[in-house]
Amino acid sequence: MINNSPGVFISFEGGEGAGKSVQIVRLREKLEELGKKIVLIREPGGTAISEQIREVVLSIKNMGMAYTTEVLLFQAARAQVYRELILPSLETGKWVLADRTSDSSIVYQGIVRDFGVEIIKELNGLSTKDTYPDITFLLDVSVEVGLARRAASDKNDRLDLKSKDFHTKVREAYLSLAESEPKRFVVIDANQSIEKVSEEIWRVVAERFELQ
Ligand code: TYD
Repeated sequence: MINNSPGVFISFEGGEGAGKSVQIVRLREKLEELGKKIVLIREPGGTAISEQIREVVLSIKNMGMAYTTEVLLFQAARAQVYRELILPSLETGKWVLADRTSDSSIVYQGIVRDFGVEIIKELNGLSTKDTYPDITFLLDVSVEVGLARRAASDKNDRLDLKSKDFHTKVREAYLSLAESEPKRFVVIDANQSIEKVSEEIWRVVAERFELQ
């Protein structure tokens, strides 16, 4: 089921160095200029409780974490941010911009780590109360460009320490997920400049929601 509350729900997905966090801030600024009320979240995280779960799931200290633990921790963080922030915001007509949400679990845990897509979809349904974005921007970047961008930043968490093969699988899984839901997904070539990518995103949002 898609979001059917008065608010608007837009998510950003993609692998390493796709530039989600830059783009989401740009979109927020443009929407705020038009007077929209924006709630921006990142997953895992977005509320005090979810950020504590984020710390556990991504910490480099927790290399021994079992797959099932990882799967459930992402879902636990999600259940909290949906109940505390996303669902109430949508119900009151706000725009929710999410830097990752349920599709990340389908791709990383369901497909790449082979936990199974069906069970992840069930868990996503539970965590989100069956609420999914109106639009999901997949920022698609080549593995080489993505890793080079990430190397240039100083960020490194437990899940960043993966092989090139892992990142290739992530990219392919996202592209096939996008293909299976063409109405919701908009795939953007994120090898382009930040400027170009944000223009494309804005064009889609402005047209879909009749803004300007
Ligand atoms: P983050 O620092 O947000 O990285 P990025 O800049 O790539 O978004 O780290 C989130 C990491 O968690 C990222 O490697 C993807 C992973 N992840 C999952 O594996 N499953 C999930 O459900 C979510 C939300 C994230």
